[in-house]
Amino acid sequence: MKNITYEKLSVIQRKLLDAAEKAMKTAYNPYSHFMVGAALLSQDGKTFTGSNVENAGYSATICAERSAIVSANAKGIRVFDKVAIIAKGETFDTKDVTSPCGVCRQMLFELSQISGKDLEVIMSSTKKDKIIISTIKELLPLGFGPKDLGIDVKKFR
Ligand code: THU
Repeated sequence: MKNITYEKLSVIQRKLLDAAEKAMKTAYNPYSHFMVGAALLSQDGKTFTGSNVENAGYSATICAERSAIVSANAKGIRVFDKVAIIAKGETFDTKDVTSPCGVCRQMLFELSQISGKDLEVIMSSTKKDKIIISTIKELLPLGFGPKDLGIDVKKFR
């Protein structure tokens, strides 16, 4: 896990974070008023974005990260190198980075099991003045996954 400045990100990482920021503005968030954007970079260089979609039955809410995963899956894409996440409150900018919730970590972990490699996770504050780069293995150590069930998901690549 390391802190990094926006300027020090690679062009690819910067573009991905900017795509997440753009997606953030599409959040359907009548309850929390919190906007989250996520952007996944596929192994073949395509970007898939998502934002949080809330629901009056609160538990039906889907986070930005999972929206992006579902959107990519709808195109048959399940192998990713990186994901970027950024968020903003209605009346405040986040000072710290927004990191994926536990459920999203679990879903991102599944992707790493499909691809067979760790997934880079780029997390940012609203103004991109605080950025942390980590990996899903680091964010979900000893994650429970398909292997624990004796299932090989590589054929879903
Ligand atoms: N949320 C995300 O979309 N991703 C995260 O990583 C954290 C939380 C959303 C869910 C809900 O719409 C709002 O933020 C407040 O929890």
